[in-house]
Amino acid sequence: MSNLNTLTSLMAAAAMATLVSGPVLAHGDVVPQAVKTEGLSPLGDEWAETNPYRDSGDFERAVEIGASAYNQNCARCHGLDGISGGIAPDLRYLTPDYDGDDWYKYRVINGAVRDGAVYMPKMADTLSQEALWAIRSWLETKYVEE
Ligand code: HEC
Repeated sequence: MSNLNTLTSLMAAAAMATLVSGPVLAHGDVVPQAVKTEGLSPLGDEWAETNPYRDSGDFERAVEIGASAYNQNCARCHGLDGISGGIAPDLRYLTPDYDGDDWYKYRVINGAVRDGAVYMPKMADTLSQEALWAIRSWLETKYVEE
């Protein structure tokens, strides 16, 4: 192989590596996706005790928004369509009642951090309360008894 050819193939290899490593690296980043919550009643700054959309006229819309918001922000760890692949707990088991809401709320606000390692980021730092209860509403439609 001539020197010029070698150089050309090295450059091609470098370009390939850039193309490949770009998306692969991005996949590992924790970048929550913006969620549009138009059509849902605004909830203000203070967190509701229980899912405010559960017994409201907003429920259907919340489920719709929650489905894509979940897949964009939670599925990476909790599994596509709510079905856990084992990395993180299966959220379909959370009971659609006060207890389930309480635990859900605790985790999305506090995340899961142990010994400085972030197992789950504080989702409420980047997603609105509306978006998070929408996700919860969608999860309730996927509820399975343990
Ligand atoms: C980077 C991975 C990751 C992402 C992203 C993530 N989680 Fe988690 N989540 C975890 C892990 C790991 C746990 C288990 C933590 C533990 O038990 O210490 C967990 C636990 C939970 C729990 C408690 C479940 C239980 O049965 O104890 C809830 C609720 C939850 N996550 C909701 C969410 C929601 C909603 C989203 C998206 C808005 C989300 N998580 C995004 C990793 C993640």
